Amino acid sequence: MAQDTLVELRGITKSFGAVQSLRGVDLTLRAGEVLGLVGDNGAGKSTLMKVLAGALQHDGGEITVNRRKVRFASPADARQEKIGIVYQDLALCDSLDVASNLFLGREPRRGPFLDRRAMHRMAAETLSNLHVRVKSTYQEIGALSGGQRQAVAIARAVSFDPAVLILDEPTAALAVAEVRSVLAMIRDVASRGVGVILITHRLQDLFEVCDRITVMYEGRSVADAPISELDVERLVAMITRSDTEEVPQP
Ligand SMILES: Nc1ncnc2c1ncn2[C@@H]1O[C@H](COP(=O)(O)OP(=O)(O)OP(=O)(O)O)[C@@H](O)[C@H]1O
Ligand SMILES: [Mg+2]
Repeated sequence: MAQDTLVELRGITKSFGAVQSLRGVDLTLRAGEVLGLVGDNGAGKSTLMKVLAGALQHDGGEITVNRRKVRFASPADARQEKIGIVYQDLALCDSLDVASNLFLGREPRRGPFLDRRAMHRMAAETLSNLHVRVKSTYQEIGALSGGQRQAVAIARAVSFDPAVLILDEPTAALAVAEVRSVLAMIRDVASRGVGVILITHRLQDLFEVCDRITVMYEGRSVADAPISELDVERLVAMITRSDTEEVPQP
């Protein structure tokens, strides 16, 4: 295992009843890189990342983090190993303000009381560190644009100081300018040494921020390559496996 390897997944399997969602997945993540995780709908990307984030337990295979074999019983276990995730559906509270969302469950306190001022000050600091712009940390999440919401969700994950940050389709629902700023945020986080796993169907995003790509197909990892060796056409062929399909004989 290379010196800067953060995570190694080997032969990960996972079934839901009769459905075998993961059939043996390998994946390697190094410090400071952005790894694109791609594959068709239902290929198993989200399931694999839920396993790495402790939200699901795998049936077989091995997870190694910082050269130690681990098994996560809960998201808290994964967080302990500095693995953070922003889920496809964000999991923010629309009715709470920006600062409360950032510090949900670990609000700063003074004695028994919530220290609201400290929380908003820390929130403003966290957001400014990541170049995230919102009008005020007192704004309700529900009032923000999709891009701002995504940025707050990423900022929340980053504020736990992760070594590994998993982003499940962070740009799927965003306008062009918002995509730009989320991609910039991803590069920024990686440049601090965090290993980022980016799931996306927007192939053009991959060419902007990724160093390497892992391709999944029907519950298996089928390819792993530096982005510099790929172009969109080749990537599409890998995702759909049209490059390996046998041509029917006449
Ligand atoms: N909780 C669950 N119970 C039963 N089946 C599940 C569950 N979660 C995922 N699956 C199945 O596992 C397979 C992989 O799903 P997964 O969500 O990991 O795919 P994905 O690659 O993230 O797809 P997408 O690109 O559409 O998000 C699918 O067939 C899905 O129906
Ligand atoms: Mg998914």
